[in-house]
Amino acid sequence: MYLISSQEMLKKAQRECYAVPAFNIHNLETIQVVVDTAKEMNSPVILAATPGTYSYAGTKYLINICKTAAETHHFPFALHLDHHENISDIKTKIEAGIRSIMIDSSHCPFEKNIAIVKEMVDFSHIYNVSVEAELGRLGGQEDDLIVDEKESAFTDPDAAKEYVERTRIDSLAVAIGSAHGLYKGEPKLDFIRLEKIRNKVDIPLVLHGASGIPESMVRKAISLGICKVNVATELKIAFSDALKQDFIEHPDANDPRHYMQPAKLAMKKIVEEKIRICGSAGKL
Ligand code: 13P
Repeated sequence: MYLISSQEMLKKAQRECYAVPAFNIHNLETIQVVVDTAKEMNSPVILAATPGTYSYAGTKYLINICKTAAETHHFPFALHLDHHENISDIKTKIEAGIRSIMIDSSHCPFEKNIAIVKEMVDFSHIYNVSVEAELGRLGGQEDDLIVDEKESAFTDPDAAKEYVERTRIDSLAVAIGSAHGLYKGEPKLDFIRLEKIRNKVDIPLVLHGASGIPESMVRKAISLGICKVNVATELKIAFSDALKQDFIEHPDANDPRHYMQPAKLAMKKIVEEKIRICGSAGKL
């Protein structure tokens, strides 16, 4: 089985105090960059895609490209549902072969959040699918998901304990000050809160919005229990900037096999750097 659940890789990361990077992908080229680089560095990896990406690329296309990549490299990895909210959509994607999901009901009141996530866990565990969910709410923008700063909320450690016990999720996305997209100033992470959550909850913790967070802060978050680090925006910027620059330098370029190369290389550098920061190289 080449497209695997995130469960075992995150548990190993928790035991050995590193984090598995989760990189958002969008198409063939971005999948190639992430898989090739992770394999070269012997790093476990999660490829994440939002509902918008599955609609853009097609669920079957994404699953089959990823399966082919995994088989070609003899490299099992997780293709993950990032920030999915619709239960029937998630069920369809699980039936199509996805083995790692995030159900995001963080916008719902506590009891409703628990009820939705619990239903998803009951279904997913029949298929050995790992389930991530979020308590508290991250601000910022991730594709079509836009959360105003006023609507964002930090994770309460006591509520996190109850949430994990009642839902039986496999990993918990925590809101400790990170945000999706770029930061206006220096990001501030609430490490004391993270430590309190870690002391109450013994499943892997997930840091969303890692683009733009300085290396020292990501490392500290990992030392305090973060086992999965999500990166999207920095990859998109590196890829697009290099593509734009290549067209400036070669205005007549018209062969995607050539003009995609600098973009892939620029993205690869970010993937390498994040794998190094996560401490996941050599952990396959
Ligand atoms: P960034 O876009 O800020 O890196 O966040 C990615 C993320 O958290 C995906 O869920």
